[in-house]
Amino acid sequence: MNRFVGKHVVIAAMSVLAGFAATSAATVQAADIAGNAKAGQGKVAMCIGCHGIPDYRTAYPEVYRVPMLGGQNQTYLENALHAYKKGDRHFDTMHAVAVSLSDQDIADIAAYYSAQTSSSKNNPDK
Ligand code: HEC
Repeated sequence: MNRFVGKHVVIAAMSVLAGFAATSAATVQAADIAGNAKAGQGKVAMCIGCHGIPDYRTAYPEVYRVPMLGGQNQTYLENALHAYKKGDRHFDTMHAVAVSLSDQDIADIAAYYSAQTSSSKNNPDK
C-alpha cells in the first residue's frame, strides 16, 4: 500500500515539474523583449508630469491619487501597462498613454522605473 502511494506521489511530482518546465518555456518566449533601463529613461518624460509629483492628484475625471512607480516590480509595471493598453484595466488617461507605447517601450520603461531607489540619482520619484 505504501509503495502504491509512493509511486503516485512521484508521478504527481513529475507532472508538476513538466508543467513547470512548460510554463518556464512560455515565460522565456514572452521575455524575448528585454527591458533596457537606460533606453527607458528617455521615454518617461510624459510620465513624470503625473507620476513624478509627490502627492499629486489628477483633477479629471475625478480627484485621483497617481501611483508611485519608482522601485515598483518590473513585471508588475509591464503587466499594468499592457493591461491599460489592451483595455483590461480601465483608466482613460493611462489607456491613452499606453496605446502610444510599443512592447519595447513598455519593457524599457518598466526596467527604468523598477531600478529606481530613493537614493537613485535623478530619481523622478517615483
Ligand atoms: C495624465 C496623468 C498621467 C500620465 C501622463 C501618466 N500616468 Fe500612469 N497613471 C495615472 C493615474 C491617475 C493612474 C492610476 C490609474 C488607476 O487607478 O488605474 C496611473 C497608473 C499607472 C500605472 C499603474 C500603477 C499601479 O500601481 O498599478 C502605471 C504602471 C503607470 N501609470 C505608468 C505610466 C507611465 C509609464 C507613463 C508614461 C509613459 C504614465 N503612466 C503616464 C496618471 C498618469
